[in-house]
Amino acid sequence: MTKLPRRTQVGIVGAGPAGLLLSHLLYLAGVDSVILESRSRAEIEATLRAGVLEQGTVDLLRECGLGERMLREGFVHQGIEVLFDGHRHRIDFAELTGGRAITIYPQHEVIKDLVRARLESGGHIVFEAQNVTVNAVETSRPRLRFSFEGSTHELNCDYVAGCDGFHGVCRTTVPTSARTEYARNYPFGWFGILVRAAPYSKELVYAHHERGFSLVSTRSATVQRLYLQCDPADHPKDWGDERIWAELDERLSTRDKWTLPRGEIFQKGVIAMRSFVVEPMTYGTLYLAGDAAHIVPPTGAKGLNLAVADVQILAAALAERYTTGKADALGHYSSSALERVWAAEHFSWWMTSMLHRFSDDDPFGHRMQLAQLRKVIGSSALQTALAEQYVGAPLPGTAAYLKASPPRGRNRRSIDRADSSNLPG
Ligand code: FAD
Ligand code: PHB
Repeated sequence: MTKLPRRTQVGIVGAGPAGLLLSHLLYLAGVDSVILESRSRAEIEATLRAGVLEQGTVDLLRECGLGERMLREGFVHQGIEVLFDGHRHRIDFAELTGGRAITIYPQHEVIKDLVRARLESGGHIVFEAQNVTVNAVETSRPRLRFSFEGSTHELNCDYVAGCDGFHGVCRTTVPTSARTEYARNYPFGWFGILVRAAPYSKELVYAHHERGFSLVSTRSATVQRLYLQCDPADHPKDWGDERIWAELDERLSTRDKWTLPRGEIFQKGVIAMRSFVVEPMTYGTLYLAGDAAHIVPPTGAKGLNLAVADVQILAAALAERYTTGKADALGHYSSSALERVWAAEHFSWWMTSMLHRFSDDDPFGHRMQLAQLRKVIGSSALQTALAEQYVGAPLPGTAAYLKASPPRGRNRRSIDRADSSNLPG
């Protein structure tokens, strides 16, 4: 029978980008953590999701020793293209933001790098932990209970990090009276495919069309990622290959006759589009991070990057707590993280609103979108605003605390349990 730890400083629920990176940053700061993940290692390493890393995300991953494969295999893009009215227009990020760029490196590759780094440094990840419950977070002795290999286990912690995504259990542990949720569901989804083909474009192409939005992205020299706005109730079987190519041909048609050479479509899936934020992102000794606390529609490519920004702030606050005993930064975690969250919510909503078809009977809305797109392309001020938001603001004090913390050893400073200044009531 596998022997599991019964106590840790920070109990983390979820081995997505938020949970894994938090655990890695805490390790570098000398803080002990254990991750409970309901799926297997093979499953989390095979789940297809985001592809765009902001400059700040790339910088942080590099600074904390996770950048080697990303820098070798990722593609640096110094701009994007916006296609509307039959023309492609380039927005030059590097020129508009003083040299900042994005890197295309799939989320599941980030996950593989993080899992390997945690396991190589002796980190604890309990894969296939079932029925996780979060207990006593209104006290300074929270506990995680779960089943594993047929028996029930308990993990005692100082703090719990809820990194278990939108459908996880941590957010709903917070009583409804102690949280406010803000949400918007969009009347469309994205139909995503992977195609065996050479890159279709040097940079991502965001296309506005009266038949609906489409996006040309990439994964590697031989695999391309394409998305089409679809009905959120669609099923992959509704989208035969012929229909997909015909829609792409229409939606991406340009006056200079740009066409996508066809390739084998080997993966299809429908993605829901919603905006969601819970406030505050903390309750007692529970701290929510990533999709557990907020969702953005993927049009701004912000979901993964926001998860990284949250845990960067949370890891720094926990490191401060364990090295100095001060809980000030932990007390400000929610308000610090929410500032960036709301900015990303606005950007993602704005990009979504500008580029998607909202209804069949709204020609006025279509004209407004075209007017907005022309304004963006015609104005260096608006292009700069878009570029700055797309590449992302630098992360606050990126990883500076790592240098100040004891390297790679467990920080044994214990928490003064009488000081529960961040507990409610
Ligand atoms: P997640 O990646 O969701 O990780 C949460 C982890 O917690 C999972 O491994 C899950 O198995 C685990 N878990 C859940 N419940 C429990 C439980 N009860 N007990 C234990 N473990 C649990 N963003 C973009 O920027 N671009 C995109 O193209 C894009 N595409 C997306 C496509 C899909 C289908 C989805 C769902 C999201 C997409 N996103 C995209 C968003 C981006 O992938 C997320 O923002 C990012 O994964 C957030 O990371 P996270 O660690 O917070 O949550
Ligand atoms: C992706 O490559 O998966 C991708 C790129 C840009 C987005 C969303 C998804 O806005």
